[in-house]
Amino acid sequence: MNEKLQQLREQFEQLSVQISDSAALEQMRISFLGKNGSLTNLFKELRTLSAEDKKTAATGINQLKKELEQFIADKSAELAAAEQAAQLANTETYDFTLPSSLTGGSLHPITLVQREVEAIFASMGFTIEDFREIVDDYDNFEAVNIPPHHPARDMQDTYFLDNGQLLKTHTSAAQNSIMRKYGAPLRAVFPGRCFRNEAIDACHENTFFQMEGMMIDENISISNLIYFMKTMLSEVFKRDIQVRLRPGFFPFVEPGFELDISCLICGGEGCPTCKHSGWLELCPCGMIHPNVLEAGGIDSEKYTGFAFGLGLTRLAMMKYGIKDIRILNSGSLKALSQFTAKQ
Ligand code: PHE
Repeated sequence: MNEKLQQLREQFEQLSVQISDSAALEQMRISFLGKNGSLTNLFKELRTLSAEDKKTAATGINQLKKELEQFIADKSAELAAAEQAAQLANTETYDFTLPSSLTGGSLHPITLVQREVEAIFASMGFTIEDFREIVDDYDNFEAVNIPPHHPARDMQDTYFLDNGQLLKTHTSAAQNSIMRKYGAPLRAVFPGRCFRNEAIDACHENTFFQMEGMMIDENISISNLIYFMKTMLSEVFKRDIQVRLRPGFFPFVEPGFELDISCLICGGEGCPTCKHSGWLELCPCGMIHPNVLEAGGIDSEKYTGFAFGLGLTRLAMMKYGIKDIRILNSGSLKALSQFTAKQ
């Protein structure tokens, strides 16, 4: 054990002078401290030692862990500052003395898709609701059947605020208020910005948009859900879209599904975009869980309903062929103004 620890320490010392960018730093973090990292594995080996040896070995491992974490924190701040400085040096410069351009602005691709989907649902009798971005634990979790300490909370890595509130992790946080506001029967869609502590890459963002929909009435079934989704998606993509449901788990729906659509690129025959399956995953959904209806003051013996959580960001990327999600929050007018005629 001591030898292994010594080896790791040497490895760390060697690596620490070589790291020159944040990707390499992250790689280093994963290789030592990740789920299967070398230091993490050493911790697991402690089990095999006698109580006495365990104590000394654990102290050594913890010491190295602390040093590693300190190094990673310092280095990451240092690299971030250097990367920002490099970015600033490359930024376009503007001559602020030139007269301004007289052309108007343009709408963000997410706004465009949001408005389009809203109009389609409005034409089918749905109201459009707004909801705040800072919510209580109750709205985001408890009201949608995720009690404290339920492991399903881990599915959404949450930003908590000092006062106990949180940045909403999904638009489902509005379900309870909307049920209380209108009671049943009810048809509503509610778009919103959501936040999760995700590492950012071409497909993941910590800030993204969803559009939730709910329909509650007597005798609502899964066929209603399929009909509304298929109609809406065929209008958005201006062609007949096939949908299929696969089982999916969300505590606030029972049964719960993942809704897939026929691949937009190959039409279902199979291509690299759909990983040769012919289908693209688009939207989790399901029949609203009776506990959620009851929490919203709706009689679950009399009424049933469906809910869906459409990824608006995802939909905008599909519709406009945007390959990198980071463009959407980039504020880059060059990238963002090309999806629409000027307003
Ligand atoms: N709120 C879920 C999520 O963001 C999506 C969802 C909404 C699933 C409605 C089912 C019904 O992960």
